[in-house]
Amino acid sequence: MAQFYYYDEESNAPYTEDHNSGKAVSGEQLAKLGVFYRFVEDPEGVEVIAKERKYKNRDTIVLDEKSFPGGKDALNAKLDLFFQEHLHEDEEIRYILDGEGYFDVRDADDKWVRAKVFKGDLLIIPAGIFHRFTLSTTRYIKALRLFRDQPKWEALQRSTAGVEKNQHRKEYLRSISAN
Ligand code: LAC
Ligand code: NI
Repeated sequence: MAQFYYYDEESNAPYTEDHNSGKAVSGEQLAKLGVFYRFVEDPEGVEVIAKERKYKNRDTIVLDEKSFPGGKDALNAKLDLFFQEHLHEDEEIRYILDGEGYFDVRDADDKWVRAKVFKGDLLIIPAGIFHRFTLSTTRYIKALRLFRDQPKWEALQRSTAGVEKNQHRKEYLRSISAN
């Protein structure tokens, strides 16, 4: 079952550590950010949600040193990239099949909220929210990635000029301001 909490910004520990500030984040707070979370014990339950939300495509991703092309160094480089703050123009939908990891999302005050996810967790990160991902110290996750249409992998880095003017960013901000 996922844990949600404010990320401890003070600590200089590696990003694969928990960084749990001790301040929990409620389901209600998450919903206000447009983040959808559900624990789905039986993978069949994912099929129901996929149908409801019209997710037509999917693939499975495994991140670990042994299977990652290029091994440890390549995986570390990938993790550095995933940990750069970015947004997408589509939802990021992940169902955790095994292992664990962290999704960090920005709250309305630009503070990091960390979701530590485990097997059975379904997390949907809305289009336009700034977020990042990394593995925990176990350095292993297997996840189902679902897509409404064709996968669109483009990550728009927060550091990119003009990203605040992105249509999906603006729509996201509008959607949370109504909460
Ligand atoms: C993704 C994660 C790294 O975009 O946020 O796949
Ligand atoms: Ni992403």
